Amino acid sequence: MSEIVRFGVSLEKELLEKFDILIKEKKYPNRSEAIRDLIRENLVKREWIEGKEVAGAITLVFDHHKRELVNILTDIQHDFHTLIISSQHIHLDHDNCLEIIVVRGKPTEVRELADKLRATKGVKYGSLSIATTGKELV
Ligand code: NI
Repeated sequence: MSEIVRFGVSLEKELLEKFDILIKEKKYPNRSEAIRDLIRENLVKREWIEGKEVAGAITLVFDHHKRELVNILTDIQHDFHTLIISSQHIHLDHDNCLEIIVVRGKPTEVRELADKLRATKGVKYGSLSIATTGKELV
């Protein structure tokens, strides 16, 4: 268990009021937990910038009827197989598929994979959710 340190923060009254509204909207129990999350969020962003090993999730929505598309998306994933921890395919409805690909590796490679998949013709939606291996976070 890490040692807990208390520190004072000075900021404009209006800014604090806006922060408190945000905290309520985001369901944080208190300011401390909200500030911890803000710090962690920025540390994770820095992990991505600094090229540390990161984790994330690529989400794709595409048309099931475009037969060749599924093969192309699979080929791309095989080219980057060392990054992929797991993938899940969900048949959303008669026409649409959703795929979630969980990745871990260097940020540049993860982004390259996400960009290639997203840019493939027939992919209706693609996003990369950046996360962390958690190793450097408290
Ligand atoms: Ni499907």
